[in-house]
Amino acid sequence: MTSLKIKKRIQELKEGFLRDAAEVRDSKAADALRIRYLGRSGLLADLFSLLGSLPTAEKKDAGRELNELKKQFQESVDALQARFRSAADAACSFDYTLPGDPMWIGHKHPLQIVMSEIQACFKNMGFSVAQGPEMETEYYNFEALNIPRGHPARDMQDTFFIDEEKEIVLRTHTSPVQVHVMENQQPPVRIIAPGRCYRNDTPDATHSPVFHQVEGLCVDEGVAFSDLKGVILAFARSMFGSDMKIRFRPSFFPFTEPSAEYDFSCLICRGKGCRVCGGSGWVEISGAGMVNPEVFKYVNYDAERYTGYAFGMGVERIAMLLYEVPDIRMFFENDIRFLKQF
Ligand code: DAH
Repeated sequence: MTSLKIKKRIQELKEGFLRDAAEVRDSKAADALRIRYLGRSGLLADLFSLLGSLPTAEKKDAGRELNELKKQFQESVDALQARFRSAADAACSFDYTLPGDPMWIGHKHPLQIVMSEIQACFKNMGFSVAQGPEMETEYYNFEALNIPRGHPARDMQDTFFIDEEKEIVLRTHTSPVQVHVMENQQPPVRIIAPGRCYRNDTPDATHSPVFHQVEGLCVDEGVAFSDLKGVILAFARSMFGSDMKIRFRPSFFPFTEPSAEYDFSCLICRGKGCRVCGGSGWVEISGAGMVNPEVFKYVNYDAERYTGYAFGMGVERIAMLLYEVPDIRMFFENDIRFLKQF
């Protein structure tokens, strides 16, 4: 053995030790490190045993170097063991009598709270709950609702099309559920359809590309606009209080004729006029009307025999008014500081 060779071996041992020490994560691994390098038949002992083969003049130097290394290894292993021991001691000295951290119990999202309440009101009035797919064909989302090709609602700006042919869309409203229900059931029909809808809107304080609606549909013999008004008034009063007023304004939707938009007296100021209702005392809820006989044609309903009404409702809009939430995006950001207030 030459002194050059042993110097190289010492250098390799040093590097190996540093690498292995960096991997140590617990006291068991620190013990293993000690045995591997400092044990009686460890790597350092191997090198010590080579000293005898060196020329006497070089033995001294190499011996000093090895002893120095042994000291360094021992110090490093001691430090590692001390570190893990103090962590283990800290775990053992945990004070079990200290009060625990509060645990938050999950609860309904504000939109779910409002949706559940809306559903409860309509169930009490004899409506059942229907569901439809969120991914629709253009037939259900537009055509069977008498929304013709070329109608602005079919524009790329408003609708998320799934395919190049523009045949599959993310539903832009819950109205297509009306068509599914009527295809599968003859009158009398009395359903609400709550669910998620999608529109290609840039998010801002009042727009979100995903939002929720509750659709309503009632078809039977002799159903009149006055029934629609009665149901909407009963809903407004049961949900928001007996002093609520409603009003209908003429409007247009392709799937209802005549069509209206309806407002509730402001949920905050109760009609006196405030910042939320812009001083008018009214807040717009959504659209409604008598089902257009054109829609009945698509589902093979006898338009001579049956009439019906339909209405929509924006869930975020109601929740924003009710809880005075200034920005629709707050419902979707999942900020726990916001959510835990409900
Ligand atoms: N689907 C309409 C929308 O998203 C809302 C609507 C209007 C629904 C009139 C109806 C209705 O059922 O009769 O804007």
